[in-house]
Amino acid sequence: MDFNDLVKLYEKKKEEYGEDAYLHISAMLKEAKEIHKKDWDRSPTPNQDHEQSWRAFKGKNLENLIMHIIQDEVEELGLKIIDGNHLERSEGKNLEEEENAIKRNLLVDYGEYGSHLPDVDLVIYNPRTRKVIAVISSKVTLRERIAQTGYWKIKLRQDEITKDIKVFFITLDEDKTLSKKEPHKKGRAIVEVDTDGSYIMSEEQIEESNKVKKFDKFITDLKGLINEVNQQTIAEEALKKEVEDERPPVETTTLWDYPKQSYGKKQKGDNKFQGVTPAFIVYNMISRYTKPGELVLDPMCGSGTTIDVCQEEGRKVIGYDIDPKRADIIKNDARKIPLDDNQVDMVFIDSPYGDNVNYSNEPQDIGKISAESQEFYEAMEQVGKELYRVLKPGKVLGWLIGDQWVKKRFTPVGFKIYEMLTEKIGFEPVDIICVARRNQSSNTGVWHYRARKWNFYLRGFKYLLIVRKPSVDAQTPEVKEDRKVNWKKYK
Ligand SMILES: C[S@@+](CC[C@H](N)C(=O)[O-])C[C@H]1O[C@@H](n2cnc3c(N)ncnc32)[C@H](O)[C@@H]1O
Repeated sequence: MDFNDLVKLYEKKKEEYGEDAYLHISAMLKEAKEIHKKDWDRSPTPNQDHEQSWRAFKGKNLENLIMHIIQDEVEELGLKIIDGNHLERSEGKNLEEEENAIKRNLLVDYGEYGSHLPDVDLVIYNPRTRKVIAVISSKVTLRERIAQTGYWKIKLRQDEITKDIKVFFITLDEDKTLSKKEPHKKGRAIVEVDTDGSYIMSEEQIEESNKVKKFDKFITDLKGLINEVNQQTIAEEALKKEVEDERPPVETTTLWDYPKQSYGKKQKGDNKFQGVTPAFIVYNMISRYTKPGELVLDPMCGSGTTIDVCQEEGRKVIGYDIDPKRADIIKNDARKIPLDDNQVDMVFIDSPYGDNVNYSNEPQDIGKISAESQEFYEAMEQVGKELYRVLKPGKVLGWLIGDQWVKKRFTPVGFKIYEMLTEKIGFEPVDIICVARRNQSSNTGVWHYRARKWNFYLRGFKYLLIVRKPSVDAQTPEVKEDRKVNWKKYK
């Protein structure tokens, strides 16, 4: 009898029991022992001890059989298995990209002494998530590896990336260290306390526990573990998605581009309202320039985007509009704001930038005044002065505004408003953000055709003008706070 005969026996079990073949390994070993005995009877070993001869045979061949069976079963579970020694010996550049990722996810960190792989024979991982699920050490007797296996479990447990990796030991337990619970042997104690389990490949009886079992149970346990890991991964992915959906990123450059108007589970503002503001802009403004509990004002609140974002982020908010669309928006002309001086922690305003949109029938609607007329800038100056008055010193105003191109005439509305805010009213410049426009009504084939034919440009962006009311001692809070950054180097 040789290794191939053992594999044939296992394949026969597979034919008989299909995917449950692994549950019959012990029975298979009994059969193998009988066949081995018949062979041995024909030419017995000189010492006349079949038991000893069978143990020697197992020692030589069963380790390979374990690999064969595990590989087979693990791949049926949609996982992959890789030789730990191959990972250990190969340099990063000689490993496949997937193998490299697995290696990184298994390294134990020794600080200044580098990172090193644990000594394991097999690594089971999920090729989709590249998470290592379990590592296996396999030896004929326990003594050869068990203390090391316990050590690796302790080390893996210490790191966030590796803490959930299960550490198993598969053995033939030739010296019978594991087969009895009592008296307590050191090897069994290590297995029980410092590994995730040891599986014994034997045809003989053993006293099982939660941690010490016959190999027949290994695949069942692995299936349970995969279920657990899958549940955990689903939960982690759901949480990640929820967080991503719920909170947009805080922008780091002056170019902002939003493919949709709102984010998260709750709609912010009304995306059918003509001129609705992308909620991301309000989120970014309040994230940078206010703290929870502070008061935000939107004097031209439209469909209420600012109110919805602020409420979700724990900011107090007041929304006015000349033609309120919701009960929580107060009717008011932005040129006269019913608040005392120095009350507000931040203002966000997305104003009309000409008479291109019909917001309401209200005569006071500034959206009825052409941006080519002086009257428009006078109205905006009145608004700007009111915003300056109600803002607390040192606090920020964000004003979203677009330029105008009508009837072959370009009007740089954004520049004019920025100049008015900083030169006439006394705000300090903070920055200008370019916000890409995506859903404007001119974003159609015919308008793109006209733009080329008549040699003009369609509006591709709006400005988010950011200015600050000077603080009392004329030094902004940011300048005081951001000492660690070497601003001279930033270009
Ligand atoms: C671009 S929309 C604001 C969009 C809003 N941020 C939103 O997300 O729905 C401009 C708003 O300014 C308002 N408005 C125009 N003139 C006003 C005035 N004099 N005082 C207050 N609001 C005015 C319009 O009624 C309109 O709702």
